[in-house]
Amino acid sequence: MSAAVQSVVILGTGSYTPKRVLTNAAMAEMVDTSDEWIRTRTGIRERRFASAKETTSHMACTAAAKALEASKLDKSKIDLIIVATMTPDMPFPSTACLVQSQMDLPKIMAFDLQAACSGFVYALSVASNMLESGKFNNALVIGAEKTSGILDFEDRTTCVLFGDGAGAAVLGRSCKNSVGIIRSLSGSDGSNPKFLHQPAGGSAIPASPKSLSDRQHFLKMNGQEIFKQAVRVMTQSSQDILELGGYKSSDIDLVIPHQANMRIIESVAKRLGTPMEKFYNNLEYYGNTSAASVGIALDEALRKGKIQSGDLILLVAFGAGLTWASTLIKWQ
Ligand SMILES: CC(C)(COP(=O)(O)OP(=O)(O)OC[C@H]1O[C@@H](n2cnc3c(N)ncnc32)[C@H](O)[C@@H]1OP(=O)(O)O)[C@@H](O)C(=O)NCCC(=O)NCCS
Repeated sequence: MSAAVQSVVILGTGSYTPKRVLTNAAMAEMVDTSDEWIRTRTGIRERRFASAKETTSHMACTAAAKALEASKLDKSKIDLIIVATMTPDMPFPSTACLVQSQMDLPKIMAFDLQAACSGFVYALSVASNMLESGKFNNALVIGAEKTSGILDFEDRTTCVLFGDGAGAAVLGRSCKNSVGIIRSLSGSDGSNPKFLHQPAGGSAIPASPKSLSDRQHFLKMNGQEIFKQAVRVMTQSSQDILELGGYKSSDIDLVIPHQANMRIIESVAKRLGTPMEKFYNNLEYYGNTSAASVGIALDEALRKGKIQSGDLILLVAFGAGLTWASTLIKWQ
C-alpha cells in the first residue's frame, strides 16, 4: 500500500430480498407449526422465498448493482469479487464468476467463499486484507443465499427458520487513517460438522437415487447445540475484537449481528453488557438469510440513517462449520 493510503472503507452497500413473503401462518399450512411457536422461539414473523428465476447469482447481482450505485464508483474500477454463499447456483463454476459475467464487470479475480452464515463477515475480512496488501483497489463483497432450495419442508425444526436474499458492499481505500475497517477476526472449529450440515451432494455422499430418497440433500441441524455454540462464539468473538482494537463494549454505537434467532442476540447482548437498542435487527421480516444476513442488515441500517460518520460499528456472525467472525468499523 502506498504511504498515502491507510485504511479500507465501505464505499457503498446494497441489498435485495425476493418479493414473495411467506408468513408464519403460511408456514403453518405446510408443516405442523404455529405463528406463536415461531415468534416466541425465534422472533421471526415472516421470510422471503425466491422464485425459480431468482437464483443466488441473480439476487447477488441485484444487491451488488445497488451497492455500486451507492459507492459512486464506476464498475470498471472493481478488481475483486467475493461471493459468500452456501447455496451457489451450481457447484461450479463459482457464483462469483456468474456475477462477473452478468454484471459485465472486468475480467478480474472472482471466487466464492464458503463459511455458511459467517460468510459475509469472513469475506469482508478477506477482501480488506487483500486491499491492505496494496495489490487490489476496489472489491465487491456479496453475501447471497437461496436457502429455500435446501430446506426440508417436512422438517419443522429447520424449515421455519431460514429465508432468501443478498447483501453487498463495495470496498475501497481511503487516505484517512482514522476511519474504515479497524480490525477483522475469524475462527473455526470443525470438530462437530453434523451440528449443522447438508450431508449429500459432495464427495462424501454424491448425488444418487438413494441420497435423494433419504432426503440427504436438505439442511440438517441440531438446534440446541447450535444455539449454545452461537451464544458462546458470538460473545467471545465480540469481546476479543474489542480488546484487540482497544475498545470497551460501551464504546460501540451499533452492533449488526447475524440474524438467526432473537433469543441468541438477546443472550449475546446480555453477556456483552450492551443494551438491545444498540443492536440492529430485521430477522422478524427475513428469517435467517445465512451469508446474506449481515449484509442486508448493514445496508438497511445505513439507508435508515442508523449509522453516522464517526460511529463504531461491530459486525458479528456465526455459522455452520462451526465458523465465527467479527469486524470493527469506524464509519467514515
Ligand atoms: C431451533 C430452535 C428455535 C428450537 O428452539 P428450542 O427452544 O431449542 O426448541 P426444542 O428444539 O427444544 O424443541 C421444543 C419442542 O418444540 C418442537 N418444535 C420444533 N420445531 C417446531 C416448530 N417449528 N413448530 C412447533 N414445534 C416445534 C419440538 O419438536 C419440541 O417438541 P417436544 O418437546 O414435544 O419434543 C433453537 O434451538 C435455535 O434457534 N437454535 C439455533 C438455530 C440456528 O440459529 N441455526 C442457524 C445457525 S447459522
